[in-house]
Amino acid sequence: MTQDPWHFSRASLAEQVIGMFDTGLSSALTFFAPRRMGKTEFLRKDITPVAEAHGWHVFYFSFLDADSETATAFIDALTAFSRGESWLARAGKMLARVSKVSGGAAGVQAGVEIRGGAQENVKGVIHRLATGHDKVLLLLDEVQALAKPAHTPLVAALRTALDMHKDQVKVIFTGSSREGLRRMFSQASAPFFHFGQNLPFPQLDKAFTDHLADAFEHVTQRKLDKEALWRAFEEMGYVPQLCRALVERMALNQKPSLEQAKEALMQEVHQSRGHVQDWEQCSTLERLLLLLIAHGKAELYSVAVRQQLAQQLGVPDITVPSVQSALRSLARRGLVFKAEERRDYEIEDPVFREWLVVERG
Ligand SMILES: Nc1ncnc2c1ncn2[C@@H]1O[C@H](COP(=O)(O)OP(=O)(O)O)[C@@H](O)[C@H]1O
Ligand SMILES: [Mg+2]
Repeated sequence: MTQDPWHFSRASLAEQVIGMFDTGLSSALTFFAPRRMGKTEFLRKDITPVAEAHGWHVFYFSFLDADSETATAFIDALTAFSRGESWLARAGKMLARVSKVSGGAAGVQAGVEIRGGAQENVKGVIHRLATGHDKVLLLLDEVQALAKPAHTPLVAALRTALDMHKDQVKVIFTGSSREGLRRMFSQASAPFFHFGQNLPFPQLDKAFTDHLADAFEHVTQRKLDKEALWRAFEEMGYVPQLCRALVERMALNQKPSLEQAKEALMQEVHQSRGHVQDWEQCSTLERLLLLLIAHGKAELYSVAVRQQLAQQLGVPDITVPSVQSALRSLARRGLVFKAEERRDYEIEDPVFREWLVVERG
């Protein structure tokens, strides 16, 4: 299905999702998982080919690092797609760069269109899509970036248009900051409240690491211990990107053991993601809470937990509001999040969680 020998196919998950759209069972889905867990790869290399084989017209857009230009870029790409200029949508990034340099007509036109009312454009474009095709699938990647107030009109227009045309136009959203997504989808006042199903993005299992070990052997003519690779994947928080990076290192350098290569890689990752700084900027109470959460401790407001915290901090008492405010502060900084369906907190970044457990005890 794809030419990339390293890609581990998730076609059955893709078939399942597309089946839900084909039968009309659902019209919108949201997958959430932290960054680098394979959402984009799934949309582009698994969902897209399966959907196209089922006759869907597929449009992809990433809102990652959305800024003031994003709404324009999105409407431009969607407009091009609705006119059947899908090659243009695909080449959109390149064209944008060219038109910036040359001050090309496309950029000017888009600017005029936006001033003419971005919201009307979204509705118009989706209406045109729905009347032109009876099977349209929009893949909207990293949508939590739209949670910013500046994007409220776009989100509202999108919601209305998708609601109106949900029989023809289906959508898969992904998001990586679960706290951000929660804010965007779960507030009763938010336009996407109860819009579609929220699904956790399934973790990859041992078939994934076995596939990488086989690809490694195919490429290098050397063997990679499958059990050891699976253990490394577990220890790296089940992050496929890190597993790929590890295998790449093993391919490029014959000397280190898998274990050594993993240690070196993880040290660089913690450094570049600022895990140590995050930790150092936390108050003592926040650090203790992070450790409890990393170890899966529930009921952080209970008398027993608060007594334990008070003892560790050497104070007579820790109140419920102080625990609440520390947790809220950690959530605001994107370090922890609270799943809707459960009352417990979790560490947002799986690699940070591993670091807390391994390095901080
Ligand atoms: N199914 C897969 N097969 C092989 N490698 C994968 C797979 N999914 C993810 N990866 C690796 O992980 C990296 C990060 O995945 P990506 O889709 O960009 O994550 P996300 O979109 O969730 O941030 C990819 O660039 C790739 O190296
Ligand atoms: Mg992505």
